[in-house]
Amino acid sequence: MLQDSYGRRFYYLRLSVTDICNFRCNYCLPDGIGCGRSLEGENPLTVAEVDTVIRAFASLGTEKVRLTGGEPSLRRDLDSLIAAVNDCDGIRRVAITTNGYRLPSQIDGWHAAGLDQLNVSVDSLDPAQFRRITGHDRLDRALAGIDRALELGIQTKVNAVLLRQHNLAGFEQFLDWVRQTPVTLRFIELMRTGDNREFFASNHVSGTDIESRLVKDGWQQVVRARDAGPAREYFHPDYAGRVGLITPYSSDFCASCNRLRMSAQGKLHLCLFADAGFDLRREIAAGDAEALAQHIRELIGGKNAGHELQRGLTGATRNLAMLGG
Ligand code: GTP
Ligand code: 5AD
Ligand code: SF4
Repeated sequence: MLQDSYGRRFYYLRLSVTDICNFRCNYCLPDGIGCGRSLEGENPLTVAEVDTVIRAFASLGTEKVRLTGGEPSLRRDLDSLIAAVNDCDGIRRVAITTNGYRLPSQIDGWHAAGLDQLNVSVDSLDPAQFRRITGHDRLDRALAGIDRALELGIQTKVNAVLLRQHNLAGFEQFLDWVRQTPVTLRFIELMRTGDNREFFASNHVSGTDIESRLVKDGWQQVVRARDAGPAREYFHPDYAGRVGLITPYSSDFCASCNRLRMSAQGKLHLCLFADAGFDLRREIAAGDAEALAQHIRELIGGKNAGHELQRGLTGATRNLAMLGG
């Protein structure tokens, strides 16, 4: 098992499969695409390389893999990537975070390839507002894809980044939706990145204010599982779904960190907001999972106690599309 010098255990890998995105979320990639690359020039990890990465991590105790991006569904071989992860001994759960683009037509294929968990970004339930935030008129498709995922029995979470000037007024509409829809809807505090400083200043909303509103309305906190992710979850007897809060600005956020990240080009990142990543591509391409695992084990000692977002520092992270959040 991978453990760092603070005693935190890492059983969860977030693997970006492309840093390119077709959406233009105003808090992330307002100009689209991602990291100055084109789809042709990107050269992301191949299916064979992903297989090597996952075998290395599985040998170190990784049990859950989330495929992220950019937008993972831009990879035409995404079904094969899911299957490669799912087929690896030791991996018990395969998840994806997506913007929902073409979700209705793709979710059956992902399910057949072995997908267990799905997170979909839906920053507004008002179609015009959704378009203003993301640059795309695709709310209906995302919602239809979520319905299909639920029919297939895939555990589904929905992400909404809280934005003072753009979607905060739609808070009640989100709660009304959760009344009938058995998803976990997570409100995420906007994080400051290298690229969104001004936007952050005018749009950040503290999760503490949202939490008071929920508690006042009768929402009760779910007891956190030992291996829970970053969200604090709440339930309400009158609602089919749950609500979660992801509050990276709270002081104890990093104490329960359970994840490592790898970029689409094979760089290991010990934190979302820290180093520029350790380039492991040569070892990955060589296909020696054992040597790769040994190197990862050595690097983990360098993981810091936490990010320094509270001090306004964002490390090397220009936007979250670079690393899949
Ligand atoms: P699960 O626990 O597997 O459901 O994953 P998740 O909720 O972390 O996944 P998702 O990709 O949906 O990310 C939701 C939000 O949490 C995004 O805004 C991420 O950037 C944020 N997040 C996830 N992990 C971290 C982390 O280690 N640090 C920080 N600061 N934010 C994180
Ligand atoms: N702050 C918070 N969440 C963000 N995401 C992207 N950029 C940011 C940011 N600056 C979210 C996306 C997606 C998840 C992976 O990360 O909306 O739901
Ligand atoms: Fe794309 Fe996700 Fe960034 Fe939106 S938040 S631009 S969907 S990577």
